[in-house]
Amino acid sequence: MTMNLTQKIIAAHLVSGEMTQGAEIGLRIDQTLTQDATGTMAYLQFEAMGVDRVRTDLSVSYVDHNTLQMGFRNPDDHRFLRTVAQKYGIVYSPAGTGICHQLHLENFAVPGSTLVGSDSHTPTAGGIGALAMGAGGLSVALAMAGEPYFITMPRVVKVRLEGRLKGWATAKDVILHLLGLLTVKGGVGKVFEYAGPGVETLSVPERATITNMGAELGATTSVFPSDERTRDFLKAMGRADVWKPLAADDGAQYDEEVVIDLSALQPLAAQPHMPDRVVPVASLDGLKVDQVAIGSCTNSSYADLKGAVSLLAGNRVCAGTDTLVSPGSKQVLKMLAREGLVEPLLDSGARLLECSCGPCIGMGGSPVSGGVSARTFNRNFEGRSGTKDGQVYLVSPLTAAMAALRGCFTDPATWGEAPAVADLPAEVPSIADLFAYPPQDGAGTEVVYGPNIVALERFEPLPEQLQAGVLIRLGDDITTDHIMPAGAEITSLRSNVPAIARHVFGRVDEDFVTRADALENGVIVAGENYGQGSSREHAALAPRHLGVRAVIAKSLARIHRANLVNFGILPLILEDKADYAQLEQGCTVTLDTTLLAPGAVVQVTVDGGAAVAVRNDLTAKELDIIRAGGLLNYVRLSKTA
Ligand code: F3S
Repeated sequence: MTMNLTQKIIAAHLVSGEMTQGAEIGLRIDQTLTQDATGTMAYLQFEAMGVDRVRTDLSVSYVDHNTLQMGFRNPDDHRFLRTVAQKYGIVYSPAGTGICHQLHLENFAVPGSTLVGSDSHTPTAGGIGALAMGAGGLSVALAMAGEPYFITMPRVVKVRLEGRLKGWATAKDVILHLLGLLTVKGGVGKVFEYAGPGVETLSVPERATITNMGAELGATTSVFPSDERTRDFLKAMGRADVWKPLAADDGAQYDEEVVIDLSALQPLAAQPHMPDRVVPVASLDGLKVDQVAIGSCTNSSYADLKGAVSLLAGNRVCAGTDTLVSPGSKQVLKMLAREGLVEPLLDSGARLLECSCGPCIGMGGSPVSGGVSARTFNRNFEGRSGTKDGQVYLVSPLTAAMAALRGCFTDPATWGEAPAVADLPAEVPSIADLFAYPPQDGAGTEVVYGPNIVALERFEPLPEQLQAGVLIRLGDDITTDHIMPAGAEITSLRSNVPAIARHVFGRVDEDFVTRADALENGVIVAGENYGQGSSREHAALAPRHLGVRAVIAKSLARIHRANLVNFGILPLILEDKADYAQLEQGCTVTLDTTLLAPGAVVQVTVDGGAAVAVRNDLTAKELDIIRAGGLLNYVRLSKTA
C-alpha cells in the first residue's frame, strides 16, 4: 500500500487504533519539549506520576518565555526546571540560550521522529521531517512517562509547491499566502504535508518558518520531506548521523490538495488582529510604522537575520521607528558575530535583545499607544503586544527591515534588488556545551521548589457514596475565564495550585472559595455549554483542589469536559433540563457512584428527598480515571499493576 509521509510516520509509531480518518490513534512519542510558561506544571504533573526517569529518547526543557526575572517567581521557576531536569533525565536549556523551537530544530529534532511539546508552535520541527505536535502540559507529562499520545487520525492535505521564490518573496510569504487562502480555521483536524518540485528550493529554516505558522491554520501539524537539503542542514549542525531520507510514496493518496506557485508570490502582511487578514505589502504603501520587531520562533534563523542585517548595514533605521532584533538562539547570534554582522546591526540604530521570545510574549518591546508594529512573528491578536490598541502586522524579516529603514510600509517595487537567501556558513559554531545534560542517575538530585512551586497533591479516589454540597448554580455559557481568571498576577501562580485556587470564580462570586473551604466535597451546577473557551487545565485542577467532585450541567464544552475527567471530576448531564431548578446552591446531593456505567442514567438524591436523573457520556476508561481520582492516579495505578 502506498503511503504519504504523514501516514508513514504515524504507522511507524502507532500503538493503538486504526489509521482511518477520524478514529482515535495512540502514538509512541520519541521526543518532548517544554517551555518555562507551561513547563512547571508539566513537570509537577510528571513528578506526581511517580516515574523515576523520562521514558522518551529525548526530553528538553527550555526557558525562553519569562526570562526577565522580575521578582522571585520566574527565577524560582527556572531553578525548579533546572533541578527537576537533572533528576529525571531531561536536557535543560537556560534562559537566554534561545527560543525553544529554533533551538530544537538546530540541536535536537530528528527526521521521522514524533515530538510533543507544551507549546503550540512545536510543529516548527516539521521543517526537518518530524511529526511535531503542540499539546497540553499533562499530555506532555504522560508522553515523558512513556504513555502514548492520542490524536484523531487527521486528514492529510498535500501542499504542492511549484517554481521558486523570487524577488522579495520569502518563506514567510508562503505561509501568509496559505493563511489568506484557508483562514485560521482552515487546518483543524488536518496535517499539511509539503511536496512537489518547489520543496528542494527551500532550506530547512525556511521550511520551519512555514511549518511553524501552520499552527495559525489550526492544523494538527505540518511536515516537509527529509531530503538532501535536510542532510546539508544537519551536517552543518554537526548532526549528520540522525539524517535519513523520508518522502511520500509515488502515487500516495491525500484527502485534499493545494497548489502554490512560489514564483508568483509577493511580499505579504497579515493585518491586525488576525494572522489570516493577509494583503500585499504594496497595498499598505505609506502606512507609518512606529516599531519593527524581528525575531520569534517563526523568523529568527541565521538566514532570516542575515537577510535583515544585510539591508540595515551601512544605513540608519528611521528615527521614529523603534527597531528590535531578537536572535532565535545563541548559535544564530554567534554566527552573526563571527561574520562581523553585529556591529553594523548596532550601528544602524537597531536594538539587540536577548535570544528569547521577548516581545512576542509581551516581555518588553510593547509598541506605542495606537502604534503600528511590523513584526516577523506568528500572532497579532489584540493586546498580545502588551499595548491594548497596538496595531500589529505580521511580515517577513526583509519587509520588516525595509519598514525600519523607511519608517513606513512601501511598495516592494521600489526596494531595488533583494538579497539572496544566506546559506549556513561552512563552520557553524556549536552551543552544545550551554545545555545542562542530566546525569545517568539523577536519583540523588534534590529538586528545589521555592515558595512559588508547590508539588501537586494526590487526589482521593471517587468515594462509592458521594455526598456533596452544591457550591454554586451558574447560568449558560460559563467560560474557563469565569472559572479560572487569567491576568499576569494570577498566571504567575500557575505552579502553585493552592494559591491559584483562591481565585476560582473570583470574578463571578467572591464567596465561592469560602463556601468550598467549609465543605469536604462540592458540586457545581451549571446551564448549557459549561466550560467553553480555552483548554486551560487550571479551570478543572483548581476546583478539584477545592473539593469539587462533580459538575452537573445541562451541557458541557468538549475540552473542559476532558479536563474534568483528567482531574477526577464527574461530568454529569441533566436528563431533564427542568431539574436544574431543584439543584439550588446550598442543597446537598448524594450519589451511589457504584451504579455509574458508561452512558447510564443514575439518580442523584437532593437533600435526602427528591431524585434528579443524570446521565454521563463517559467511556469505561474515563470512568476508571475518575474512580481513581484523576489521570495521574490512574497512570500511577496502571504502572504498579
Ligand atoms: Fe515564543 Fe512567541 Fe514562539 S512566545 S515560542 S516566540 S510564538
